[in-house]
Amino acid sequence: MFENIVCGYGDTMVLRGVSGRVSPGRVLGILGRNGVGKTTLLRALAGFLPLASGTVLWAGHDLRGVRPHRRLTMGIAYAPQEEVVFAELSVQENLWLHLPERQGERYAPLLAQFPRLAERMGQRAGSLSGGERKLLSFTRTLGLCAELSLLDEPTEGVQPENIERMATLLRHRCHEARATFIVVEQNLSFLMGVADDVLVLDHGDCVLQGPVASFGREALEAHLVV
Ligand SMILES: Nc1ncnc2c1ncn2[C@@H]1O[C@H](COP(=O)(O)OP(=O)(O)OP(=O)(O)O)[C@@H](O)[C@H]1O
Ligand SMILES: [Mg+2]
Repeated sequence: MFENIVCGYGDTMVLRGVSGRVSPGRVLGILGRNGVGKTTLLRALAGFLPLASGTVLWAGHDLRGVRPHRRLTMGIAYAPQEEVVFAELSVQENLWLHLPERQGERYAPLLAQFPRLAERMGQRAGSLSGGERKLLSFTRTLGLCAELSLLDEPTEGVQPENIERMATLLRHRCHEARATFIVVEQNLSFLMGVADDVLVLDHGDCVLQGPVASFGREALEAHLVV
């Protein structure tokens, strides 16, 4: 749960008091035009950006001052929008790097859905296309089996058939493991397919929030057009 988050860069505040909550096993989708602060919100939740004011609560803990790596051990994983992989490492190293005892088999059911990625395990991650890197980042993050995953535009540049598989894997994780997700997306079809609840940001404020089913596609779309 996050409440009245105010944060930004230097003296410029990007978020001006944003609140939201997500329950176990549910997906909260974050929508908004370019530059409204979606990435800034996820950075704040992941602990990469200090809050000017406001609170982030997770499992009964106030996360103020808790570093990103510590948040990960508390069950919060983060897949950023950009620079999603270590370019000089292989695909396999990118995946294994994040698991404590090299529990690489955790990735098997995920890689089974993305055979083109599985074929490239020995290849430098930097040689992948933008969409393939996103898929690698998504696979890595799901493989962590975190209680809460923060995904920043996971489908950007990804092929349509793989976007469908991502949606299926994500929903499966929610149902089977009661995993929770906060997903920033521009792809409204994907978002409406996976999200239970939605939060729309505009000019640093939350302008719409509630169950996805309570809003029509057009109402959500209206908040995305420039
Ligand atoms: N590191 C930074 N330093 C200064 N300003 C920044 C920084 N990162 C983002 N901003 C500014 O903060 C505002 C919000 O950016 P943010 O990346 O959070 O938007 P976004 O909603 O994720 O946009 P997009 O849809 O393009 O990903 C923008 O005006 C942006 O220029
Ligand atoms: Mg962004």
